[in-house]
Amino acid sequence: MSLICLGVSGGIGAYKAVEVARLLQKRGHEIQAVMTRSAKKFVGPLTFEAITRRPVISNQFAPGINSNVEHIAIASSAELLLVAPATANIIGKFANGIADDFLTSLHLATKAPVLMAPAMNVNMWEHPAVQENMQRLTARGVRFVDPGEGYLACGWIGKGRLAEPEAIAEAADRMLRPSKTLAGRRILVTAGPTYEDIDPVRYIGNRSSGRMGFAIAEAAAARGADVRLVSGPTNVPAPSGMGEIAHVRSAAEMHAAVMNWRDWADAIVMAAAVADYTPAQGARAEKIAKGGDVDLALARTRDILSDLGASRGDGKKPILVGFAAETSDAVDKAREKLFRKHADLIVANDVTKPGAGFDVETNEVVLVTAGGAEALPLLPKREVAAAILAKVEDLLR
Ligand code: CTP
Repeated sequence: MSLICLGVSGGIGAYKAVEVARLLQKRGHEIQAVMTRSAKKFVGPLTFEAITRRPVISNQFAPGINSNVEHIAIASSAELLLVAPATANIIGKFANGIADDFLTSLHLATKAPVLMAPAMNVNMWEHPAVQENMQRLTARGVRFVDPGEGYLACGWIGKGRLAEPEAIAEAADRMLRPSKTLAGRRILVTAGPTYEDIDPVRYIGNRSSGRMGFAIAEAAAARGADVRLVSGPTNVPAPSGMGEIAHVRSAAEMHAAVMNWRDWADAIVMAAAVADYTPAQGARAEKIAKGGDVDLALARTRDILSDLGASRGDGKKPILVGFAAETSDAVDKAREKLFRKHADLIVANDVTKPGAGFDVETNEVVLVTAGGAEALPLLPKREVAAAILAKVEDLLR
């Protein structure tokens, strides 16, 4: 499921945008309608609100304490900006970077891909100004769903009629479907915390939810990879589309599960927050009864990533990705980990930053490789996963 911003500009085809919204919802996407002032003369915002169950945005300066922040949030969370119908006017504004209302500002503020479905009179469509504007936008990566030919609302015959809603929905859906760039690859992902049992009722754990690892596993499967998941204890449901899942509890169990699948994997992503220490004499058979102070001796666990790095030698298979959850100097510490653990990529995050780290849907990370460090902005974990996998694809090549 993806969030699509559906921009509706003022053409007679605006009523067809309602059907486009409905079809995209049927395909599992969430729609945020954004209407220009003139679009509202053709269709009422209520129609879109009833279908999308979200308030329509049209005013850049809507009153309300958080309205501005909300608008910016939409620019960063949208995965596609679809404009249907796109008038000659909106195409001209996009081509020239004009930002005089919410839709045109959103176009500049978002990093999401843009798809436009033009609709206009045939002479307008053929006008060199419009054609040149579209060429400029095409050169910037904007895609178009060409209009159909036939009787136009203005009474003329020719090209300019908004493409059929089904064709627009299909083009949008296709842009959101990741290409199978990891087809034929085997990716092993670890996720979640480990629990080190002290006695039958107590354990040492950590705050990892598994979300980051699950997002990576899910994104790898969507790219066609054969994915195996080793998951520590978590309440978040594991993603669908996994080849096999091993549920483990302790660092030692995770170590064994990973080593068992090591030779199978082309790449291993260690997103799990593995305990560094475990009770030295193992879990006690009996519950520790309350009494005096208790001395709990802790012993180091085996570092899975280090063991993978050491056993790999120079063979370079599997590609090794680790995480560095830090509270200070995340990039320096990640670089040190990269070399010490013989990994190919360390995903560094400062867990003290708002919106980053454990138990949230977003993360802000730096991708550290031998070649350098690439800082990503605060992103949904799904997009962080996509960026990590893009790096893994590079490393596999
Ligand atoms: N990791 C691992 N096995 C462990 C501990 C950690 O494979 N026993 C992996 C984690 O999955 C993660 C990376 O190593 O990908 C970094 O974990 P972290 O605990 O931060 O690394 P340490 O080397 O223990 O660094 P520090 O001394 O800063 O805790």
